[in-house]
Amino acid sequence: MMTDQEITQALTFPKPTTVWKAEPLLGSIYGEEEVEAAVAAIREAMDIHKGFGFSAPPIPDFEQAFADYCGCRYAVAINSAGPGLDMVMRWLKLQPGDEVIVPSVNYPAAALAVYGAGGQVVWGEIDPRTFQLDPADVAAKITPRTRAIFPVHMNGLSAPMDELIEIGQRHPHPVHGPIPVIGDAARACGGGYKGTRIGKKGLATVFSFHTMKNMTTLGEGGMVTTDNEELATYCRSVRMYGGGVDAWGTSNVMTKVQAAVGLVQLRKLDSFIGARRRLAKARTAMLAGVPEIITPHEPADCEHSYYLYTCLVPEAWAGARRDRLMQMLQDDFAIGSVIANRPVYLGRKMLAEHTKGQRCPISEAVTERLFCVSLHPAMSNELNRYIAAAMIRCVERLRQA
Ligand SMILES: Cc1ncc(COP(=O)(O)O)c(C=O)c1O
Repeated sequence: MMTDQEITQALTFPKPTTVWKAEPLLGSIYGEEEVEAAVAAIREAMDIHKGFGFSAPPIPDFEQAFADYCGCRYAVAINSAGPGLDMVMRWLKLQPGDEVIVPSVNYPAAALAVYGAGGQVVWGEIDPRTFQLDPADVAAKITPRTRAIFPVHMNGLSAPMDELIEIGQRHPHPVHGPIPVIGDAARACGGGYKGTRIGKKGLATVFSFHTMKNMTTLGEGGMVTTDNEELATYCRSVRMYGGGVDAWGTSNVMTKVQAAVGLVQLRKLDSFIGARRRLAKARTAMLAGVPEIITPHEPADCEHSYYLYTCLVPEAWAGARRDRLMQMLQDDFAIGSVIANRPVYLGRKMLAEHTKGQRCPISEAVTERLFCVSLHPAMSNELNRYIAAAMIRCVERLRQA
């Protein structure tokens, strides 16, 4: 809760000269350690007998450190999260008509992975409070053709993994047994769930180290984590043309320079998440008592990584009024916001045709109310206060409109 005087004072902070994007283009913080690690890796590669060898140290070191961080047995480094989602879907050997349940409020990558592997996407609804795949809707949509449940750990918060795993066990596939749960954690590196880190639960989890993510390996990169030895061996092989398992593959390797920087970023990850959490909680406290802004919900058993600070407006403000709020934040205060994300089928014709006849009305309604406001671990407390104050002033103006 901010008093009127505190709001006025907070808005004396100079208006940013560049709009603060909701997903800043560098999501983590880079320092001299990253530069030194990259230079050292390049210097080592200058030895003709070493070069940039695609499975050479420190790639296995980064994989081991990441597996340890997540508390799982295997981690396989790759060039980006998308190919990791594809690999795990291909490993399932989906047959035409095999179904995979994917939250509709999502980045397109998971649904594209199902589509690309020859499966049928089944859109799931989200819980309007957490924006995560809704277990009750999953249970209602399971059929004897369901091969996987594919939640995204949306915007930095964990999906309700235990509930989803339990549903998968309760409705085994007639041939393949318990339905596996596969997590897309592209936006949730470093988040927590029931005392574990995201990346431990389920058959496999796929992470992104893209430039905007919680940590980045020189702008691109990803990791697949799993406890399943066969799946880990498969991913390790198909990231380099699949010879080891005699399967289709292409080149999806991470370079050793990226891995060297990844080791440094991983050591700092908890401090990045700590900063995101501190800023998010402070902002939530400042916005308390503003009924038109419903701040992000953190279930008691989760540690939100706040990749995005995801808010809702009330139903009466859905659509046009929410859009005006976002526009006003940008035009008057240089604060960017983003709708992350609308149901995928509304924006991707190919996937809409693939899933013809399916709609998720709850998700459609929620995303008319949803907006994510800028947050970054390097953000100052003053800028964070300015953003909260700007949000309140915009709401006050819209109340009069
Ligand atoms: C939820 C989600 N999944 C997958 C991806 C793809 O990640 P990458 O760019 O590393 O392939 C993204 C990227 O923004 C994402 O947000």
